[in-house]
Amino acid sequence: MSQKRKELKKCMKRLDALQKELAKQKTCRKLKLYMDQLRELQREVDRRQPCRTGFPVSESVMLPHPIKLCEYTICFSQLDNCGRELLEDALNARCFAYAPYSNFKVGAAFRSKGGKVFTGCNVENAALTPGCCAERTAMLKGISEGCRAFSAGAVVAYHPAGFTTPCGVCRQFMNEFAKLDVPIYIAQAPESSAPVPVFEDDAEVLVTSVYHLLPHAFTV
Ligand code: THU
Repeated sequence: MSQKRKELKKCMKRLDALQKELAKQKTCRKLKLYMDQLRELQREVDRRQPCRTGFPVSESVMLPHPIKLCEYTICFSQLDNCGRELLEDALNARCFAYAPYSNFKVGAAFRSKGGKVFTGCNVENAALTPGCCAERTAMLKGISEGCRAFSAGAVVAYHPAGFTTPCGVCRQFMNEFAKLDVPIYIAQAPESSAPVPVFEDDAEVLVTSVYHLLPHAFTV
């Protein structure tokens, strides 16, 4: 049995004993203390419960466990305002993509903790390596204006096979400036070449997170 569960069991025993004491008109301050401790332990145990039952989860404190997070897909029209706005901003930013070499246009938008949205597109270069992805363009704009933490992000591109998820470099970059539970909304850009692109109500959106995109990010 794990350390945490042992601790929880011990605490439960102490609680039982205290309840008996209380019955004998003893102090209830201690009881409150143990109740708080117990609740904290219960939260810790819950936090480490696997999303899907039967799936083993390490209880090591060396691992990040934002277990309450999940990754899902949802219709654009059912998404919350924050997600819809960011995706629309990313879709508009995609119009400015400079991608003459790959012809693969990407748009991104990141919301700062203060609520300001920074948008970006991919910017390619004849020498290839100087090019920059849309995600980093957007984040760099925010960071260079003093933003140090983003609360949500969105990425939009069109690939016939499905969602375009950020490249590895962008995932590591995101990890530097966004907490693990920060949502990242991903959608396919509509195929139409309308001057002002819009998402259909039933467009599929992948809602993922910084954690899901890079569970084992490098940290120092
Ligand atoms: N690209 C992005 O902008 N974001 C990504 O997450 C993946 C790739 C760009 C880089 C390049 O300009 C083009 O897509 C093709 O790789």
